[in-house]
Amino acid sequence: MDRAPYTKLETFNLRQKRIAASCRLFFPEDPIKIVRAQGQYAYDEKERAYLDCINNVAHVGYCHPDVVKAGSDQMALLNINTRFLHDHITHYANRLSETLPPELSTFYFVNSGSEANDLAVRLAQQYTRHQDIVVLENAYHGHLTSLIDISPYKFKSLRPQKEWVHVAPIPDTYRGKYREQHPDPGAAYANEVKAVIDEAEKKNRKVAAFFVESLPSVAGQIIPPAGYFQKVLEHVHDAGAVFVADEIQTGFGRVGKCFWAFQLQGDDFVPDIVTMGKPIGNGHPLSCVATTKEIANVFDATGVEHFNTFGGNPVSCAIGLAVLDVIEKEDLRGNALRVGTYLMSLLNELKAKHPAIGDVRGAGLFIGVELVNDRQERTPAPEVAKNLVERMKEEFILISTDGPDRNVIKFKPPMCFTMENAKFVVNKIDKILSGQSGCNQTSSLQPE
Ligand SMILES: Cc1ncc(COP(=O)(O)O)c(C=O)c1O
Repeated sequence: MDRAPYTKLETFNLRQKRIAASCRLFFPEDPIKIVRAQGQYAYDEKERAYLDCINNVAHVGYCHPDVVKAGSDQMALLNINTRFLHDHITHYANRLSETLPPELSTFYFVNSGSEANDLAVRLAQQYTRHQDIVVLENAYHGHLTSLIDISPYKFKSLRPQKEWVHVAPIPDTYRGKYREQHPDPGAAYANEVKAVIDEAEKKNRKVAAFFVESLPSVAGQIIPPAGYFQKVLEHVHDAGAVFVADEIQTGFGRVGKCFWAFQLQGDDFVPDIVTMGKPIGNGHPLSCVATTKEIANVFDATGVEHFNTFGGNPVSCAIGLAVLDVIEKEDLRGNALRVGTYLMSLLNELKAKHPAIGDVRGAGLFIGVELVNDRQERTPAPEVAKNLVERMKEEFILISTDGPDRNVIKFKPPMCFTMENAKFVVNKIDKILSGQSGCNQTSSLQPE
């Protein structure tokens, strides 16, 4: 690249002209131009460092040297499709299998979370010979046509719900139908899934899959109650359907205690299909579907080849392997547990101080802070959340919101996030919620 970089204003203007408006910018009135990143920090064109609390794609840290080296070394040697024998894809599938229950022993590699989920839909439909899909309220599973149809977060403002899609209540014990005082919210929410399946069957429909994020993130950083997945699995299997765990946001040790978020529910729970994406390649487009031999064999029995031009190529697999190595070598799962626990404890201290914080929930470095206008009524406070996100940006900290009311502050930082980062961020939130923090930034889209 011999061209001098554009000024921020030029970049913005050209983007407005050439990039579709539906591709939204973060902070559209005052977007940030990021030119490089390292670890948990992203740097703008003026070398100002933003502490990133939300990018779960840069899982082992932006531009981790081991991942960069693995990718560039392999790129210099060979990149080719998967119709030839190659050690990386087999070795990588083997390494992934070591993180999963033994039943999930067969792998497909694709290029994005959406591709993984679309393939999961096909596997489920082919295996069960049923069509219908049950999802949770406000779920998001990807941007392909098939996935917009099963993502209430998107389809509710786009088009009517398809007759083959059924929506069950979100198992949210803070704001949902069954709350923390319920004796067994896991069973109660699982019965809601059964009721949805029963209702579909009454209309002569047959359910192929229950599709769920292991910890619903877009729906508001929800931690499903204990026993929920086991009981749902029973109902799902009784209906001849399969259980798909979408680990695209939550996998690869983020939750600290275990490698996969579905394992938080206990060792006795094994989904039929697991989909992976985002953190898997630390920013490189790579994703994966893991399933049982039985399901994969039924898919194969159609006689139709599954081919994906880029999926599972040697460069992607070298990068995937390097990500697994770094997670292990740097004990990032342990770090997620330690730093996440510390961050939650600091946030709970803030909750005791600031009535706007209604709930703090999470596992490892997957944390949600629900902001409310009235603690008793639990009325969502999206304007408080929006203001907090904007003020944090002025402090060079990137946070964001999730949930249908956009009142849940989410934390999903790169896994190298430190105790000092946690303290720093909570200190800033405290100051902002106390009304003490001034505006540091003058910036914006000014001519330079
Ligand atoms: C839970 C979940 N599933 C699937 C996807 C789709 O992944 P991608 O954007 O890589 O296609 C996303 C993306 O945000 C997601 O959050």
